[in-house]
Amino acid sequence: MAATVIVGLQWGDEGKGKTTDLLAESVAVVVRYQGGDNAGHTIVIGDSVFKLHLVPSGVLYPHITPVIGNGVVVNPQTLLDEMAMLEERGVGTANVRVSEAAHVIMPYHVALDGAMEARLAGEEIGTTRRGIGPAYADRAWRIGVRMADLLEPGALRTRLERILPEKNAVLVQTHGLEPFELDDLVARATDWGERLRPHIVDTTALVQDALARGLHVLLEGAQGTLLDLDHGTYPYVTSSNPIAGGACTGGGVGPLQVDEVIGVMKAYATRVGSGPFPTELDDETGRHLLERGHEFGTTTGRRRRCGWFDAVPLRHAVAINSVTSIMLNKLDILSGLPEVRLCVAYRIDGRIVERLPSSPDLLARAEPVYEAFEGWDEDVSGIRRAEDLPAAARRYVDVLEGLAGVPISIVSVGADRQATILRRERPRRATVAGPGWAGGGEAGGPGRAGSSPGAPVDAP
Ligand code: GDP
Ligand code: IMO
Ligand code: MG
Repeated sequence: MAATVIVGLQWGDEGKGKTTDLLAESVAVVVRYQGGDNAGHTIVIGDSVFKLHLVPSGVLYPHITPVIGNGVVVNPQTLLDEMAMLEERGVGTANVRVSEAAHVIMPYHVALDGAMEARLAGEEIGTTRRGIGPAYADRAWRIGVRMADLLEPGALRTRLERILPEKNAVLVQTHGLEPFELDDLVARATDWGERLRPHIVDTTALVQDALARGLHVLLEGAQGTLLDLDHGTYPYVTSSNPIAGGACTGGGVGPLQVDEVIGVMKAYATRVGSGPFPTELDDETGRHLLERGHEFGTTTGRRRRCGWFDAVPLRHAVAINSVTSIMLNKLDILSGLPEVRLCVAYRIDGRIVERLPSSPDLLARAEPVYEAFEGWDEDVSGIRRAEDLPAAARRYVDVLEGLAGVPISIVSVGADRQATILRRERPRRATVAGPGWAGGGEAGGPGRAGSSPGAPVDAP
């Protein structure tokens, strides 16, 4: 066994929490590798709904060690509150481990995030205002505070004595806000450190030890590929690397220790916050997706923008994440639509474009080129075998699979753990499927039928 990465292929909220929870049953360690409490991962087990922002989704299984890796930015108060909520609901959190190298979201980061968004009024990124960008910026600027610093109040005070005047100057002079007080910050940080002390460890050593012992490690991404700082729709992105490569830097694994990358996507698209979204729908279908899909942000409660599935960034996402298989969520939400559409290219300034442009201006001018498919009326939420899905739904999944170029192994038809269809085997790096898996003549979009599925990558 080695490591499996779970990564969002769209703009976040693809259902990574459900995917992680589903796969976590058979693993030993679940690691969050980037992002912070901007994430909101929902897990539904019967009547119980858990919304997690920082603690990895594996926490619900007592046999799992949930790890917050070095690549995460941690708001210690959120973490303490979330652990208290879990304990209150009967979920043990003694096993939670936090990297001593993870950066701390300090109260001034939260204040700066809100202040910068307010200043951009009209041009704002639409951040979650959790201090994510400012905390990652300080990390890169080498003026961050790390979890280990919370355990050394003396050294922390010296560090904050250097950092805080700079932060306060910006808060007061640029944004007209109140400054933070050194003694108060040191006292709060020391309290967090005391309360979190049993959880703060070298998580890279922990993960490497687990791998050396042959245990299976799951790395749970937050956000999604199109929100990636490098590969997403910059500047309308988050400040970390949600892509699978981020699991190596932020989770403490080497690239060749990862033998499986599960891409998570939903059967349509959503986006929260600002930024171009070519397939966005402001019509009856958009309302259907919003309402049936309950597309309201888990973290901020904001209404998610909804639209048709966009297969243009899909090819890009599969490639840059080395996706070995896909979990397709929320297929049930499309029931009742007379027609289902897929965006297969863009028309930009009269030209057909098949790749995601990196310029936000170009992307903002992109008009989707759609393929239309017959819809289906049947409620599919009770279905547990792929062959029992309505023919039109099966065809839609086949076409998506052909466009992705890797198998859609799992299909989800409801929020509950149980509402899941195991459609195909999950190939791993060493066993990437041969041409047999998706050969279905139905697969492939326009001019793309049978698009070179899964050539072996590990040929001797
Ligand atoms: P994440 O951030 O990627 O973990 O996704 P969120 O939890 O923010 O949003 C996904 C939402 O869809 C959650 O409310 C899930 O409970 C729900 N969900 C996941 N899979 C399915 C599905 O197949 N069908 C339905 N109806 N809901 C789902
Ligand atoms: P999960 O893990 C969807 C979006 C914000 C904003 C942009 C930058 O639940 O999929 P930030 O606060 O990160 O600086 O905001 O990123 N965003 C998300 N959108 N799902 C998320 O997480 C997100 N986390 C951040 O809305 O557009
Ligand atoms: Mg979410």
